[in-house]
Amino acid sequence: MIATDEFWNRIARKYAANPIKDIAGYNRTIERTRSYLSGGDHVLEVGCGSGSTALLLATDVARITASDISSEMIAIGQEKAAAQGTSNVDFVCATPFDDAFPEAPYDAVLAFNFLHLTPDVTATLRRLAQLLRPGGLLISKTANIGGLRRFALQPLIGVMQLFGKAPSGLSFFTPKQLETMMRNSGFEIVASEFHGDSRPFIVARKK
Ligand SMILES: C[S@@+](CC[C@H](N)C(=O)[O-])C[C@H]1O[C@@H](n2cnc3c(N)ncnc32)[C@H](O)[C@@H]1O
Repeated sequence: MIATDEFWNRIARKYAANPIKDIAGYNRTIERTRSYLSGGDHVLEVGCGSGSTALLLATDVARITASDISSEMIAIGQEKAAAQGTSNVDFVCATPFDDAFPEAPYDAVLAFNFLHLTPDVTATLRRLAQLLRPGGLLISKTANIGGLRRFALQPLIGVMQLFGKAPSGLSFFTPKQLETMMRNSGFEIVASEFHGDSRPFIVARKK
């Protein structure tokens, strides 16, 4: 199995070039995310990929730190920020556990298509809570690969991992299990909804 950063570095350019599959669902997620952000907010995005979402939301907030484990994703994000003249997004190559966030605590943390990629989701959620101010929001959208889907997907993903076609360290949980993990990690659920597919969009407030 290959390391997580190596996997994402290898596919970064292709991932960034792929069009969004469900643009209506994505737009709804952006619209709902915007409704929870304010102009003065300092925001952290974890697993930002090539930075499209951070660059889209940059005009809605004061500053965004867009972080990702993949240096190649971060390089693409920096190229896009320079091309569009955005200066309030700081791209950082880091995992949430790295000592790379001197601006913490943040008003909001964004985690889109990310939490299922972490091997210990509760530890990740607790770390994200540490990076938020009390009352700060975790705004997330997460692949739904738990429950019955897990039985179909896990063997397939296992084979793909062996051939370097899927990232390692995936976690399998349902939307309800994710909400429970959030509650157990110091959050209360503010909103839980679906935007066109099975991935839950969950907004959780740090108590
Ligand atoms: C599926 S992509 C999602 C990118 C973007 N958030 C989006 O919604 O398009 C997952 C991203 O998480 C990053 N990632 C995976 N594991 C990570 C970790 N432990 N810490 C930080 N980033 C990670 C990958 O490099 C990749 O860019």
